[in-house]
Order: sequence, then C-alpha cells, then structure tokens
Amino acid sequence: MIERAAGLLRSGEPVAIPTETVYGLAANAFEHEAVLKVFRLKQRPLFDPLIVHVAHEQASLAALAQAGVVDSSGMTEGQKTSFARLTAALWPGPLTVVLPRGKRVVDLVSSGLSTVGVRVPAHPLTQQLLKALPFPLAAPSANRFGRVSPTTAQHVTDEFGKDLAMVMDGGACETGVESTVVLLLAGGDPLILRPGGISREVIEKLTGRRAAVQSTAGGSLVGVSPGTMDNHYAPTIPLILWDGASPVAASELPLRGLRVALLSVESSTTLEETVQSLGGEVCHREILSTRSSDLDAARHLFAALRRCGTSGASVIVAQKPGRDDGLWLAIADRLRKASFKGELNGLLSQLRGSR
Ligand code: TXA
Ligand code: MG
Repeated sequence: MIERAAGLLRSGEPVAIPTETVYGLAANAFEHEAVLKVFRLKQRPLFDPLIVHVAHEQASLAALAQAGVVDSSGMTEGQKTSFARLTAALWPGPLTVVLPRGKRVVDLVSSGLSTVGVRVPAHPLTQQLLKALPFPLAAPSANRFGRVSPTTAQHVTDEFGKDLAMVMDGGACETGVESTVVLLLAGGDPLILRPGGISREVIEKLTGRRAAVQSTAGGSLVGVSPGTMDNHYAPTIPLILWDGASPVAASELPLRGLRVALLSVESSTTLEETVQSLGGEVCHREILSTRSSDLDAARHLFAALRRCGTSGASVIVAQKPGRDDGLWLAIADRLRKASFKGELNGLLSQLRGSR
C-alpha cells in the first residue's frame, strides 16, 4: 500500500491519507501542478491555504529549515521557545504551527501567504509514507469544499469515487476533529486560529503563556487565517443549533410537520423534549458521548453528522456543548460552522413544502 501511494504521489497524483484527526487529500507540497490537482478535486477556493505534513524526523526547526519547508531566520527567541515546547510534547499529533514559509513550498500551498502551516501527523501508515518520500505532503481534509470532514476511508470514497486514484485505509480516525492551528506571535504568545484536537489548556500549560482564540479575539486579527470561514462542515440537510439553555417558542422554530434528526453531545432528554414540544417528529437520534467525554464526542462528531444527513430527516437539530474547555471548544466551533445561519421561518416552510 505504501509503495503504491508513494508511486502515485511521485508522479503528481493526489492520494487520500489517514491521519489521527481526519483523512487528508495529499500532494507533493513542492510541486505546483500536484497541489493544484488537490484544489481542483476539492473544489476549494485558492485563497484557503493547505497544511504541510512532514515526517517525524523533520520535527525540529533546523530540519524544517534545512528541507526548505520553513524559513526560521526571522523568528524571535520567544517564537522559537514556544515552538520547541509545543512540538516536543505534541508532535506527532493534532497540532499545526504556522511558521514563516521556506522557499521550496510552492506559493499555492499557502495561498500566496508568507507563512506555512506545518504538522507531524501521528498515524503510523502516513508516517511510513512520509519517510518513503523525498518531499512533504500538502493535505487539506479529504472532502469537497465546505462539506463534512471524513473520518473513515469509506467517507472519502463516498465523496470522490473514481475521481481519486487511491485512498489509503488506516481505519477510523482516533481524534475525529482537525488539528489545532496555532500562530506564534512575535513575543512567543500562541494565538489559536482554529480550535482542534489539542485543547487551549494544554497549549497554555506547555508554553506557560495565555493563548487567545482568534474567533473570540476579534478586531484586527480576523483575517490572519483565511479559510476559517463560517459556512463549513455543511451536512446534506440544514442543521439548526440550539444552545441547550434558552427556551424556544414554536413561533421561532416551528417544527410541526417536519422529520427531525437529533444530535446531542451527551445523554439528555431536554433536546428531544424541546423538539417534540415544537411539533417536530423525531426520526433519528445521535448521542456523541453517553459519558460526557469530549474525546469520545470529538471522535464521533463527523460520522454522526453524516448519518443524520442520510437518516431521512429533513432537518437536524443539534445541542451545543454546555462548556468550552478541552475539546468541547473545537466541537462547538464545528457545530457552529455546520449550522444554518439564515432566516429560520423561511427555511422551515420551504422544507415543509418540499416534503
Ligand atoms: O487535522 C488537520 O489539520 C487535517 C489533516 C488532514 O491534517 N487537515 C485540515 O486541513 O484540516 P484543511 O485544509 O481542511 O484546513 C486547513 C486550515 C485552513 O483552512 C486555515 O484555516 C489553516 O488551516 N491554515 C493553513 N495554513 C495556514 C497559514 N499559512 N496561515 C494561517 N492559517 C493556515
Ligand atoms: Mg477542511
């Protein structure tokens, strides 16, 4: 399997690879044409940069600079120290660090930015593949742009079918949400551009510094991470997000006459009771973790969203996690991005009409 994948990648063909977070759609990060194929296959806009995946042997700044992946010459001592602390503990693993881009990584990978997101994925098959290749792999999640990320090989096949030469099957992904993307500010403070498989608390503990999260930092920093768009992870039917606390009136959310798939983060009857009180007919239920574990919930999230989409329901009602520590932050982020943001009454009457 490794040899076949390496052969295709050397000849410029994209290959889907397993990682501990989600499956990636990989190509030679040093070759424009190969990377362009990934953007085309995904139907991804060219302004949304890709993450570069490297072998564990290249996990140091010196090795990354030597390979032309990173240009560490302008990095401050604070940035270098935070980088070393984070990566010594977390690589291989679901952490992406945004660093000054080295000269061998093609412009397209970074959408023309002077930086590049780098990570060392933990899946053993992908580590073997990276070791066998003379170049690193640029890889976004292996889904069409804006859709739910794949956590099994079958999800990737469902999405691309014959358009993709090969999917390396590495089983179900362990973490289930994408890597945490971190930018190191000049003084060395970490800024979380995308919450993910490594929690904010862990990043703060390792660096000994406070980590702001971009989506809540606001102001001038918005725009530092293109691609952290709001309409993402869209399931095949609309998802309505309920915060789980505020009462909802049937005039705000008229579910009468609609088949509803429920997605709750933990065992609780409130979501079902609420949906029924609004007149919805519950036809499918997903509980992300019966023991309220953020790790379990993250692992199950994307597969559960897909099942809701094919359950025969016309709408998904999901309950937001009641907390934002650990991986709950990433779970809430993905649910928010997956949710319908328009005018609800209009959407619901349209769905009722199309039944
Ligand atoms: O876990 C993951 O990170 C998965 C697996 C396959 O490794 N990959 C992934 O890639 O989630 P993708 O393309 O779906 O998301 C990459 C995101 C971009 O949308 C952007 O938000 C951020 O990473 N990113 C990448 N390069 C960046 C850069 N140079 N500056 C800022 N943000 C960057
Ligand atoms: Mg993605």
